Amino acid sequence: MCGIVAYVGAKPVRGVLLDGLKRLEYRGYDSSGVAIVDGGRAYLARAVGKVAALEQKVDADQPEGHSGIAHTRWATHGKPTEANAHPHADCSSQLFVVHNGIIENYQQLKKKLSAQGHTFRSETDTEVLAHLIERAYAGDLPAAVQKALLEVTGTFGIAVLHLAHPGQIVMARRGSPIVLGVGDGETLAASDVAALAQHTDQVVYLEDNEVATLSSGDFSITTLQNQAVSRAATTIDYGRDAADRGAYPHFMLKEIFEQPEAIENALRGRLDHSEAVAKLGGLEAVMDRLKQARHLIIVSCGTSYYAGLYARYVFEALTDLAVETELASEFRYRKLNLRQNTVVLAISQSGETADTLAALREAKRKGALTLGLVNVVGSSIARETHAGIYCHAGMEIGVASTKSFTSQVTLLTLMALLLGRGRDLSYEEGAAILRGLENIPDQMREVLKQSEAIGQLAQKYSGAEHFLYIGRKYQYPIALEGALKLKEIAYIHAEAYAAGEMKHGPIALIDPSFPTMALAPEDASYQKIVSNIQEIRARDGQILAVTTEGNSKLGSMADDIIFVPRNHEILTPLLTVLPLQLFAYHCAVLRGCDVDKPRNLAKSVTVE
Ligand code: G6P
Repeated sequence: MCGIVAYVGAKPVRGVLLDGLKRLEYRGYDSSGVAIVDGGRAYLARAVGKVAALEQKVDADQPEGHSGIAHTRWATHGKPTEANAHPHADCSSQLFVVHNGIIENYQQLKKKLSAQGHTFRSETDTEVLAHLIERAYAGDLPAAVQKALLEVTGTFGIAVLHLAHPGQIVMARRGSPIVLGVGDGETLAASDVAALAQHTDQVVYLEDNEVATLSSGDFSITTLQNQAVSRAATTIDYGRDAADRGAYPHFMLKEIFEQPEAIENALRGRLDHSEAVAKLGGLEAVMDRLKQARHLIIVSCGTSYYAGLYARYVFEALTDLAVETELASEFRYRKLNLRQNTVVLAISQSGETADTLAALREAKRKGALTLGLVNVVGSSIARETHAGIYCHAGMEIGVASTKSFTSQVTLLTLMALLLGRGRDLSYEEGAAILRGLENIPDQMREVLKQSEAIGQLAQKYSGAEHFLYIGRKYQYPIALEGALKLKEIAYIHAEAYAAGEMKHGPIALIDPSFPTMALAPEDASYQKIVSNIQEIRARDGQILAVTTEGNSKLGSMADDIIFVPRNHEILTPLLTVLPLQLFAYHCAVLRGCDVDKPRNLAKSVTVE
């Protein structure tokens, strides 16, 4: 979603800002802009479309200067036009603001400011910030930002630049992440550490309702009420080759192929064979409360929600907890009876998804123990939960989540195993899961070898405008995830159903032009899904099936079959999801879609 980069230091600022924006491109956006203090004048450039369009303008103008702010915008208020792109200026074009988040009371503020003579040039909520700060400004920029933000309701991560203070940039946050990067003679800030990685590994996370003032190589932090905050920089490990796609044509394909390694990283040091249990250091501090837990509620969005749906089956199988999986955006509007023995688990790749964060805060307020399963180290959800574990999947750039999903599934299984072994799960059952998990990375490598063959299947099916995905029990969330992948990157309408529901509606859609992807590994539900396949077959529907190696019985029923190795039924989703990721990927490429940056989507959704 929207991205912010700010810089003050010795380097020519335009290159730093444009490079930073490119590193945030993966988040999804539709326009971009920069503001630079160039000697005594302010330089502003904005463009619709890719950062390359902005770069063309900036390259033509060659602005000089050593401080500036930049932004990629994902439209919320007003269309993606140049006038609505950030930075936004005050009336006198002296000060510039970029903003992530939503100003909820912007209409009232805009009315008031207009009546006071301020002229607005955009349809955005952000522009009110520029005018509010202008009104509050009396020579001290941080003080003006503090004062202005006290009038604002909603969420913000902002960067503010003023022509009269060329060596200073003011940042502030509430609900939208801001991280500072402190280098030698330079200070940066961004909404995502990816934009800082080239410059420094010394970072400082801003907390809600804090204001940071940056100068070359230095920074200071206060609250909105001007209380000084002391916070030292921490060292961040960006991981190897994080933003390099190597020989892969797309980040998504690279990340699909990184899954065996991501699972090895997720498992490393976390298996205790002697006790047939998982070791999850991040949960140790709350183990006593976890042992008392009776009720688990999992909250998440998108692909992470499907990992949560999978977890419901696994926690029910391995523990005696009552488990609910809820969309984070719905959770906070339900009247839930959260008690001392309720645990709320937030699952999020980015750790910044606004709905998940809001659900988590609601749960905390109501007294639940909150846990996080997060990939991005130091992210808001990681910091705000009582305890949690990291996926260690490495940086995920492709908007469509792949390796994060399989890492989440792996760690959810380990969590369920840990809690289950503290209850009534037997040693043998625990040991069987550990053995199965250890086989997963190599079995994944076997499945990935079929990428080309799956590409050929994509050639056969990528012309379809609709697809049905079906699965049962552990495979039902995988059907949902596979259909989501096809929708989000190949723009093919795909519906996923629990196979048993098919007869209650979707079967009416079946005809020769409406193929079905059937997830049919030989597990406890196998016979049931075979019946569903027969029903589709009887209505001339084409069937593309995923089953386990050695199953020769589907040949007469399915048009095409993809085989995956056998493993414990709980773990088979880690294998069956791979062909679905590859199928969606190849369909998207064949249909000429922008695989890593699908239209209208954002990597990290930081507005509710
Ligand atoms: C966006 C992304 C999805 C992701 C979802 C939840 O919609 O495009 O890939 O699954 O957000 O994100 P999270 O970071 O909370 O897992």
